[in-house]
Amino acid sequence: MRGYDRSVSAADHELGPETVWHLQLPEIRFGRDAVEELGFQLAGQGVTEGAHGLLVTDETLVDVGHADRVTDHLEDAGYDVTVWNGVEREPSIETVDSCIEFVRENEGEDGYDFYLGFGGGSCMDVAKGTRAVVANGGEVLDYIAEPTGNGESLTESGPPLILMPTTAGTGAEISPVGIFAVEEKEIKEAISSNHVRADAAVLDPTFTTTLPAEQTAKTAMDALGHAIEGYTTHPFDGLLRASDPSERPVYAGRTELTELFSEKAIELLSGNVRRVVHNGDDVEARAAMLKGALFGAIAGLTAGATLCHAMAYPVGNKYHTYHGETIAVLTPASTLGYNAASDPERFVEVAEMLGADTDGMGTREAADQARREYVRLQQDLNVIPSGLNELAGITENDVDWLASQTVETQQRLLRCNPRPVTTEDAAEIFRDALYNWE
Ligand SMILES: [Fe+2]
Repeated sequence: MRGYDRSVSAADHELGPETVWHLQLPEIRFGRDAVEELGFQLAGQGVTEGAHGLLVTDETLVDVGHADRVTDHLEDAGYDVTVWNGVEREPSIETVDSCIEFVRENEGEDGYDFYLGFGGGSCMDVAKGTRAVVANGGEVLDYIAEPTGNGESLTESGPPLILMPTTAGTGAEISPVGIFAVEEKEIKEAISSNHVRADAAVLDPTFTTTLPAEQTAKTAMDALGHAIEGYTTHPFDGLLRASDPSERPVYAGRTELTELFSEKAIELLSGNVRRVVHNGDDVEARAAMLKGALFGAIAGLTAGATLCHAMAYPVGNKYHTYHGETIAVLTPASTLGYNAASDPERFVEVAEMLGADTDGMGTREAADQARREYVRLQQDLNVIPSGLNELAGITENDVDWLASQTVETQQRLLRCNPRPVTTEDAAEIFRDALYNWE
């Protein structure tokens, strides 16, 4: 059986290839001390002075004083803010439900006048989920796809939501999804809708300097994955035309515009990650990383993440590994290994963006330099596991289960992969990823 939905290809289909692309983003405010413009940003979203908002964050950001910096600016601007700091790593549906309960107990069914998600992807996702469910009624599971949830559609966006990332990685500040763990099933499920997307993203690199080196490296690898996967996915006009604009998928293929963002993101991220991992206080390099992660997300989370992200979800669900670390370990074998055969010339470009010298090489050899250069980068960072084996003790015996899970549960991502992937192919790629270096 081929685990690839041919219907995504425009060939032999009466609708023909896609001719239109579309890019939807929150309003973006970026730069050092951008937090000082938060009041102005909220006023721009129509939130009047005296309004009452909720800041969704975690304990660490409260402890280091970052949350106070945000609330102080808001209070100076005349807003009243309550802090909810119950977000944990890889948040569960129960976490979002407890935040929703907090909102309803304090503010009733209508909830707060505005919401802020402040932190890594986990905090931003909980803020997205909370605003969406409070605005639409019910509980989180109502809006998760069947069979886990009830599969209802969101119809309301709710009051303004502003997201402020404190890591350079996930891209949750611009994406239309919130991802939550379903603990009893050991899987993750998403609420995915344009109603989930924030109204504004405020990115201030001064909040990212306290992130420890190891997490800095891992989140950077997630961002780099978005940029490279977005650059190497199908072009939008190679995919099947949407029968109706509302049917166009969230991951709709690459365009000239997403390619520009990918190129710049790969350059910024691969060119600055060594600096921030070895000196976290380097605000200039931190700003370059935050910008690189934003650009990577604009590219990858619009054009679409591919095989590597598809393979990372079963690994993360079963072994509870960090998303960025899992992406880092799988990228050499998947994106830069298996997929390189789909379009070697494009991977030569990736190799050069990563800083490889391909002078005098044939196309195939030059394309292979992308993988070499990427692995060299990982080794320099000194905190990335050498493969799936070191990551979580994964061995040859686990490969078949991971491969079948990937193909059975991740078609949303695999359908956009530039090369078809069967269960046997996936097993071979997982095997290749056990050891990226000795
Ligand atoms: Fe990711």
